[in-house]
Amino acid sequence: MRRSGQIPFEPTPDPAWRLDAVGDDALRESSRQSRFAISNGFLGVRGECHPSHGDPFGTASRTLVAGLFDTGEGSDAVPTLIPAPDWLQLRLTFGGSVLLRQPEYEGSFHSLDIKRGLLLRSCRFSTNGAVVHVRALRLVSARRRSVGLQTLRLVVEKGEGEIGIEAVAGSPDPALILDDQDPDLSLWRTHRSRKQLAMTEAISVRVDGVSPGLEARSRPGLWTAHVAQGQDVEFMRLVSFHVGEREDGSPGPAASADLEAANGVGWTGVLKEHEAAWTGRWAASEVRIEGDPEAQRALRFAAFHLNGAANPEDERVSIAARGLTGTDYAGHVFWDMEIFLLPFYALTWPEAARALLMYRFHTLDGARAKAKRMGWSGALYAWESADTGAEVTPAHAVGPDRRVVDILSGTQEQHISADVAYAVWLYWVVTGDAEFMRDAGIEILLETARFWASRATLEDDGRRHIRGVIGPDEYHDGVDDNAFTNVMARWNIERGRDAADMMRTRWPEAWDDLATRLGVDASEIEGWAEIAATIASGLDDATGLYEQFEGYGDLEAIDLEAYAGRSVPMDVVLGRERTRRSQVIKQADVVALLALLPEAFPVGADAVNFDHYAPRCSHGSSLSTAMHGLAAARLGRSEMALDYFRRTAAIDLGETTAALAGGVHMAALGGLWMTAVLGFVGLSFREDGIGLRPQLPATWTALRTPLQWQGRTLMIEVDPGKRCVHVHVETGEAMAVHVGVARHWLETGQTLRIELGDPAIAEPAFDPSSSTAGHRL
Ligand code: BGC
Repeated sequence: MRRSGQIPFEPTPDPAWRLDAVGDDALRESSRQSRFAISNGFLGVRGECHPSHGDPFGTASRTLVAGLFDTGEGSDAVPTLIPAPDWLQLRLTFGGSVLLRQPEYEGSFHSLDIKRGLLLRSCRFSTNGAVVHVRALRLVSARRRSVGLQTLRLVVEKGEGEIGIEAVAGSPDPALILDDQDPDLSLWRTHRSRKQLAMTEAISVRVDGVSPGLEARSRPGLWTAHVAQGQDVEFMRLVSFHVGEREDGSPGPAASADLEAANGVGWTGVLKEHEAAWTGRWAASEVRIEGDPEAQRALRFAAFHLNGAANPEDERVSIAARGLTGTDYAGHVFWDMEIFLLPFYALTWPEAARALLMYRFHTLDGARAKAKRMGWSGALYAWESADTGAEVTPAHAVGPDRRVVDILSGTQEQHISADVAYAVWLYWVVTGDAEFMRDAGIEILLETARFWASRATLEDDGRRHIRGVIGPDEYHDGVDDNAFTNVMARWNIERGRDAADMMRTRWPEAWDDLATRLGVDASEIEGWAEIAATIASGLDDATGLYEQFEGYGDLEAIDLEAYAGRSVPMDVVLGRERTRRSQVIKQADVVALLALLPEAFPVGADAVNFDHYAPRCSHGSSLSTAMHGLAAARLGRSEMALDYFRRTAAIDLGETTAALAGGVHMAALGGLWMTAVLGFVGLSFREDGIGLRPQLPATWTALRTPLQWQGRTLMIEVDPGKRCVHVHVETGEAMAVHVGVARHWLETGQTLRIELGDPAIAEPAFDPSSSTAGHRL
């Protein structure tokens, strides 16, 4: 056992790997709770509450457990993520005074240690002439996901007195009903969702490293001892949570087994293996930037929350819009996951990406049921999804102007099905995971393609139309032929055909089984070619411009620059109705299409579309600036892209008092990584390797990123000063790297230095005669 003197409460010395907060600031507290949240894909623990805001106990933090949903009363109620009982509560006393609730304490310091995945705290209390220095460390294990650890070290710096440590679990959320409790294990069940939650904990307390050093507990959970100057007290609590369905029996034994195993390695062992797991994640995902410390910090912060959000061991949960850092959007999963997060996982953590896509595979039945209920074939995924894949978008919400509004996304925002298909294909292109495709991916592609084939209706003009939808721009509902939706649908159908071909050729027997089970035959799939070819897209061949949806161009044009200083979203400024009748866009829509399927744009028309739509976008969603940043970076407009990057980073790191209370914005964080790697490095994927088109902003003097591609571990380093890029294949087979028109061959273990050529990569002029044929990423 490590002696208490060696307890690693000191944050990583390099401030670029930390987020610090000095003192307490009630106004910013809820934002800090989100920002300083730690998670491991199963458990998420928000930062501490200010002591005086907590209950009688000195500290309070909210713990979220992946998959622990319950539905409230009322026909409108939707499943909501329920917080677990607060296992971190403590009451510290010295000489009869409650320490953590004392208003007068000095040097309160919180530090999120991004490198080691820890939340650290330090403060000093003076009471009746005595001074006690308290330091705390907490983690949720990246190695044993059911396990959390809290340790405290108290050093008496002056005086003497009786120290008291009382550890309890806070009162559970009203949605949890206590089923069973003994000193070691508590078991709750939810009201309606038939879930069970087990919690078990082990606590030890030592004085000067010796146990038992305290007087016997005078009541359960309370330790007391007389301590004098120079003595230290160490408190350690390990917890394990498990969630299960009531039908599957008690999750208690699994929680107890995990706790016992964690106890077996000791808390220092738990800490060590957690740090090792984080070292591994950083080796696989740290984007290093030189010349721009702010951007570096933003990317580390983003990767910290992205790495903390996923769990490769659980295919039954996915990542919510706020991860496990807060309860905004009730813990629901949106397109944020497939479009903004999946690229990070596919390229740095394929095992996590696979589990996240398997969640969509396991929820296919919910998607099939939704399509059927609405009169279509195939699979229409839930716009908001919880544990079963059923549609859980609430019917109403309170708008930013405090009025109750109908939410139509649950029925109309259908691009989600194409977004899921896009993520499946991206994962396949990046990883080459044939087993996943055979067993799950192809079925998703076929069922989503089938949905679109039934959804796009042939009309008298000889074209197929998709009417009555909401695109990414949610300010306009019930629109016809949203370009994003239609082009993604066309692409989805084409990939459905590719998927069928792939399966027929590679796994004929598996194809026969799947085709029988789904009731698809060759003629249905043949028919998709004609359907894809006739879907209206809104592309004007003369100008190269997509119309965002039919009639968009006739709406009222509003000069957004005139509203530059506003502090509320544009739909509040103008009112919902006028916004609907205007060209004001909530978030990247055609620009999102440009970022996802650049080849769906005629040569040179990418800039035409960007320049048309960017000034009309009010960035009323946290997803918006990231997509603009990615698209601008791909256009070679690096400084503009950097501006979008900074605005995106400010969503979670800027000086904000309110917007962050419900959790960090996972899509914006994923978007930062995408802007850097897919945008500034210009990464693309080819049959035989990768393509690079680096265009860093002027201040970024170098960028280095590890990547996983088709079973290989790569390191890419862009050095614009020396006008070169280095690519190294650390493990895996030889491969090609395409830069500009040149193709370079790279052997394993070799580092290839590629000259970047002419700095000005000219944008090709728009050629109306060029093809807009389907793109394959
Ligand atoms: C955005 C959606 C997003 C959701 C969750 C909404 O405000 O418009 O695109 O999926 O938030 O992040």
